[in-house]
Amino acid sequence: MNSTKQLGTESRHEKPTDESPESLAAQASDRFQWHWEETAIAGEIRKLAVASDPEGMLIDACERQDAGEEGVIDPFWATTWRAASGLDHFLCDLSLKGLSLKGLRVLELGCGTGHAGLAAACYGSQVVLTDGVRDPLLLVRMSTWELRDRCQVQQLRFGIDRIEGPGFPLILGSDITYLRTLWPELNHCLRDHLAEDGQVLLSDPYRIIANEFRDWIQENGWSYNEHKVALDDDPAHPIRVMQLRAK
Ligand SMILES: C[S@@+](CC[C@H](N)C(=O)[O-])C[C@H]1O[C@@H](n2cnc3c(N)ncnc32)[C@H](O)[C@@H]1O
Repeated sequence: MNSTKQLGTESRHEKPTDESPESLAAQASDRFQWHWEETAIAGEIRKLAVASDPEGMLIDACERQDAGEEGVIDPFWATTWRAASGLDHFLCDLSLKGLSLKGLRVLELGCGTGHAGLAAACYGSQVVLTDGVRDPLLLVRMSTWELRDRCQVQQLRFGIDRIEGPGFPLILGSDITYLRTLWPELNHCLRDHLAEDGQVLLSDPYRIIANEFRDWIQENGWSYNEHKVALDDDPAHPIRVMQLRAK
């Protein structure tokens, strides 16, 4: 993954006023192809609304960038990354080990299609699922519809937007450390939103760039623990979960 596009330049379309699933589906269909995908989330097969052609969307974005169009954002949200599944499994382990996720206020950053945040909601948390890009939020609103009393979905761009109110005891992020230029804004966002004594869980598939992030984040005032999560689909390629606390 490699990109220099920043989300601050995205043209903003307004939050939909009609939040019915039918309206959300129609709005999503106007913007890109999508479908329901059966996905293992929080230990059960559930339906996740996903983009149907993530590769095609990425190629299209690259072609528009190459043609000189300004403000085109790489649609990395359009794929559901394995790191989200790893984080889901880690949350399950945490709850088995005694951390009660029930009623816990959780913030997910860069949620993409929202797998990790939806998992937290399934475990009983009150979750705010956010992404810097608005398109995936239409899908996330559909996927979280049945748990909408526990899920709030909104745009949040690292280092730009801030959710007012008390900090979150748990912040999640799956595969959001892939771009060096994002790190200072991500750090800013974590400090803005983490409750005192709160913790951050960031997952990635052992990306080389994330090894650098691991060193960088510790130099920037965070304590660090690392966990390995093997997934059944490909145990040889586990997911790393970074557990951070502000020093
Ligand atoms: C690799 S995708 C991971 C998506 C999802 N968490 C998953 O694991 O399937 C990275 C996500 O971070 C979001 N993102 C990138 N830059 C961001 C920024 N500056 N502020 C907020 N979100 C951002 C992207 O829109 C995308 O959804």
